[in-house]
Amino acid sequence: MMKDRIQLDKQGRLRHLLTIEGLRREMLVELLDTAESFAEVTERSVKKVPLLRGKTIVNLFFENSTRTRTTFELAAKRLSADVININATTSATSKGETLLDTLHTLEAMHCDMFVVRHPDSGAAHFIARHAASHVSVINAGDGRHAHPTQALLDMFTIRRHKHDFHPLIVAIVGDVLHSRVARSQIHALSTLGVQEIRVIAPRTLVPPEPASLGVHVYHDLERGLRNVDVVIMLRLQYERMQGALLPSEHEYYRLFGLTEERLACARDDVLVMHPGPINRGVEIASSVADGPHSLILQQVTHGTAVRMAVMSHAMRTGESS
Ligand code: CP
Repeated sequence: MMKDRIQLDKQGRLRHLLTIEGLRREMLVELLDTAESFAEVTERSVKKVPLLRGKTIVNLFFENSTRTRTTFELAAKRLSADVININATTSATSKGETLLDTLHTLEAMHCDMFVVRHPDSGAAHFIARHAASHVSVINAGDGRHAHPTQALLDMFTIRRHKHDFHPLIVAIVGDVLHSRVARSQIHALSTLGVQEIRVIAPRTLVPPEPASLGVHVYHDLERGLRNVDVVIMLRLQYERMQGALLPSEHEYYRLFGLTEERLACARDDVLVMHPGPINRGVEIASSVADGPHSLILQQVTHGTAVRMAVMSHAMRTGESS
């Protein structure tokens, strides 16, 4: 509820998108429906609509990104906004400027939206709390905390293939402990009402108190994949690991790598997903990543339409508040 107060306006409309947690099902469905109409725009020969003409959007990235940064930029350009990309390693933050001073400097240039990626959990909330009233903040991934647009594009991809969330069993496999993507996916899947969410991981990579997240935990990949409709693979996030949590990548692949043989334990029409970047031969075999069940590149494609939907909703709210 705390988070609702900051990301929604007085009418309950989206002002910032910081986390999926606490958002109502109706809002998630509305965003997915809007993304559906933008997906049609992204397939036209002229892939542009004038919705955000005259607005300035800043991609403020303090951490590396390929998919998220590029599709946010594409989304903003397809909505006709002006886009500025700031890479923290080349900005004044590397000369000691604080996050707040960077924010106020960009606000002084009359920017309207900040898309923020940061290694610290809570960074996007911090910026949203201190941003001017006309500014919207979209979380593009903060520490281990949340990656809400990734979860939305994953839900969009699942919905395109399975249509109804209620009967689905979804397994999230791998380094769930360090994954902001998994956390956001779990909130989205449970709000959209899937039958069951499974986490399949070594004991060292399961978050504390998984029951409070409403997930069933498995430590055996083949058992965990039985009857699964959707399997979401995660990479090992070494950048957020403290200490050695695994014997070796070879051993990890032997026990938790998704091979064709293991995938055969799931339903015949199982969907294979991965937020990327993928590590072939560590969490997933090439034959599965490139195989007939894989939606990995479709997820990337859908990122643009979903981010267009989020930006247009948040900016409309900002205009009328
Ligand atoms: N899925 C994801 O966030 O990828 P990037 O780190 O490339 O943005």
